Amino acid sequence: MMNVLGKGQEMNIRRATPDDAGAPAREQTNGVLRKMKVRRYQLGEERAIWRVYYGSTRNIVGREYTREQVERWAPDSFDMENWKKRLAQKNPFVALIADKIVGFAELEPDGHIDRFYCHHRYQRQGIGSALMRALLAEAGRMGLTRLFAEVSTTARDFFLAKGFTIDEETNNIVCGCPAKQYRMSKQVNP
Ligand SMILES: CC(C)(COP(=O)(O)OP(=O)(O)OC[C@H]1O[C@@H](n2cnc3c(N)ncnc32)[C@H](O)[C@@H]1OP(=O)(O)O)[C@@H](O)C(=O)NCCC(=O)NCCS
Repeated sequence: MMNVLGKGQEMNIRRATPDDAGAPAREQTNGVLRKMKVRRYQLGEERAIWRVYYGSTRNIVGREYTREQVERWAPDSFDMENWKKRLAQKNPFVALIADKIVGFAELEPDGHIDRFYCHHRYQRQGIGSALMRALLAEAGRMGLTRLFAEVSTTARDFFLAKGFTIDEETNNIVCGCPAKQYRMSKQVNP
């Protein structure tokens, strides 16, 4: 059972299967049992989080968007100081397998989910689900009643699977490029 996390706290996350109630926190991936953990990010992890963002944007988001778009969203050169400031402000959750960061997710005080990315080599392995559970637990602690996000075409089906609904399809400018997105939301903690 997941519980609420505070800064600096940790919890073990496992992918739920029908017969694993009470089993230790483990992730079955490519035949290897691996432990996955979700916690708040820590200072010094900024470059590792950038690598997840960069790889996921270029390799996964890039399947649905143009090269120009993904190069703008995840440029080869970027300002590490700004990125550090951003992460300090967003205070994302990170998912780790064997101490390697394989995903991160940002929840803002009003229920807005900002960046939500999993490592491009660890897709469809329950990492996004683990991060979403952490956000939902945090939303409960914060007393939020609604979560919402501007979701890429790439992530739409994941958000639908997590009970979000599409409020609007948009074509806003994202980092200087028009991009099709979905405004999606979910009522929580009724
Ligand atoms: C969206 C994203 C975070 C999902 O993470 P993930 O770890 O792959 O998700 P999970 O393995 O927990 O998937 C949970 C369920 O969501 C659904 N789902 C996830 N990805 C899907 C896809 N590409 N197509 C259809 N359904 C999908 C499935 O129902 C899945 O369960 P299943 O694998 O048992 O069928 C990941 O694909 C990603 O990093 N995408 C690129 C970045 C991005 O677009 N971020 C969002 C910006 S708004």
